[in-house]
Amino acid sequence: MSSSSAHERTYLSDYRPPDYRIPRIDLQFDLDPALTKVRSRMWLERQTPDATPLRLHGEQLELLTVFINGKLLCDTQLTIEGPLLVIDGLPERCELCIENTIRPVANKALSGLYLSQGGFFTQCEAEGFRRICYFIDRPDIMSIFTVELRADSKRFPTLLSNGNCIAHSTLADGRHSAKWHDPFPKPSYLFALVAANLSFIQDTFATISGRTVDLRLYARNDDLSQCHHALDSLKQAMRWDEEQYGREYDLDLYMVVAVSDFNMGAMENKGLNIFNTKYVLASPETATDRDYQNVAGVIAHEYFHNWSGNRVTCRDWFQLSLKEGFTVFRDQQFSADSGSSAVKRIQDVNLLRTHQFREDSGPMAHPVRPSSYVEINNFYTLTVYIKGAEVVRMLHTILGAERFRKGCDLYFERHDGEAVTTDDFLRAMQDAAGVDLSQFARWYDQVGTPRISIRGHFDTAKHTYTLELEQRTPALGQTSPVQPLHIPINTALLTHDGQPMKTRRKGFDERAHEHLLEMTESCQAFEFCDVSSKPIVSLLRGFSAPVILDQSVPPGTLGALMSHDDDPYCRWDAAQQLARRAILRVLEDLTKQRQPNVDELFVQAFARVLDHASEDRALQAQVLTLPEEEYLSQDMVL
Ligand code: SER
Ligand code: ZN
Repeated sequence: MSSSSAHERTYLSDYRPPDYRIPRIDLQFDLDPALTKVRSRMWLERQTPDATPLRLHGEQLELLTVFINGKLLCDTQLTIEGPLLVIDGLPERCELCIENTIRPVANKALSGLYLSQGGFFTQCEAEGFRRICYFIDRPDIMSIFTVELRADSKRFPTLLSNGNCIAHSTLADGRHSAKWHDPFPKPSYLFALVAANLSFIQDTFATISGRTVDLRLYARNDDLSQCHHALDSLKQAMRWDEEQYGREYDLDLYMVVAVSDFNMGAMENKGLNIFNTKYVLASPETATDRDYQNVAGVIAHEYFHNWSGNRVTCRDWFQLSLKEGFTVFRDQQFSADSGSSAVKRIQDVNLLRTHQFREDSGPMAHPVRPSSYVEINNFYTLTVYIKGAEVVRMLHTILGAERFRKGCDLYFERHDGEAVTTDDFLRAMQDAAGVDLSQFARWYDQVGTPRISIRGHFDTAKHTYTLELEQRTPALGQTSPVQPLHIPINTALLTHDGQPMKTRRKGFDERAHEHLLEMTESCQAFEFCDVSSKPIVSLLRGFSAPVILDQSVPPGTLGALMSHDDDPYCRWDAAQQLARRAILRVLEDLTKQRQPNVDELFVQAFARVLDHASEDRALQAQVLTLPEEEYLSQDMVL
């Protein structure tokens, strides 16, 4: 694949396996803010039958020397082609040593090796490693890293890299050295180093198989007292991943480092997570409940990447949602289990509906798995992260918890140590669950938010209720024809005043309150039998698919849903719709200089929500929270 850094477009369809593998790399850093020297020793294995030239990525590097199997290469044996270093005539296997320098103090991009408050930090996802040294900087190159850091002992007493520390020594001139070895092959985007003056708090975690893991949370000394919540959250996340996904941590040490200059929220580097301080520090004096939840959520997210991202990684950057969508789904489940699951779901849906839906309908719209990019950093989007998580959630809904877990187990077992694709993920789910997911796979490729229109018909004589659904996904410049998606729609029927009804789907034996309607055609009818009276419909329960329902629900029905629906998301959604009507009505009264009138129905429903004394208080508060401006202005014609 060509490099994306020369403003060329990179296409998924151009993917080719790499010409060389680099099973092992040793790195040595002489750290100096103005000029840092990097020596790399790589063990190369050519994968092609002919002597294909080796192409290494490098950006903002000063090349000093290149040795092949101990022999210095002269300038004529190498060419620099833009951001590539090209070396021709290599034997099938060889040892390549390169020396180069970099200027961390001049690196203001916060990608590669940079300085923050006088310390060295790295960020290599997606393509930052090439700003440190020459390498085949793509995620399907997985190597075992050994890293030696050398720096001034007073200014940089803390020297960290991935894996386990295997040596520490004092050098001449007030410098010291630390050597780190990570036994797990990893892509270069998971490489990290830290050289700074930090303190740490620590704890231990006993894994399910009885191993003891040292946990360390590094921060500036003054910030240390605010790190305890993050450390507690880490232990909870480690236990949760063992219990819910059977995933055990694999190294003897897990480190989290807080830094104040950081482009993203946090980064899951193997064994050495680097975090924006915003997602580590929390103290009761300054942090809200939501801040505490965010710290726990991000700590869990980065920890969960150890399996969904690090042990099984992405073949190329088009597969970003393979690790991000799946890991966001996992952190959402974790947070749901740690507090009010109803409120967590509503918060996630709210973010998706107000922000991702907008992205999905505007000039930035792109599929969960894009087919081309110019700059991969522009694809760390809500679509890849949270629509990607909804896609995984739909799989969970369609397969059910048990078969979904089997699919995950198979995925991790089959692909441990590999760099794979979203198709591989679906294949594991399909093989473990024995279902055909070929139509479902369209969720990864089709852009835009599907809209579903609804018509219902109650047959008084036959006691049946028929729901006719029609799905449409906007074409949004997509050249291939828009095809119907496989959409799980959780549905229940309620009596006119909102009480649950048990009904039977036509062709099914069992009577149930909630039914999973699997829509696969453009237009599809679903019939319910044993329906004693004209029902109201509780649709898309739990927000079972990232779609927009095109329907105009009468205010009386919204009032009943808001007060009584047993599905928290549907109650909240009805409350939002009802509140929106009430607010817009008041606005209209005001603009027309009339006495404003608050909708009586809304007031009554509001009061009934307050009356449910036994309820989840956080949910009650959420249902009564008035809609955000983004929601109020949607579909508003000015
Ligand atoms: N990979 C990171 C994450 O966890 C982004 O830096 O989302
Ligand atoms: Zn992530």
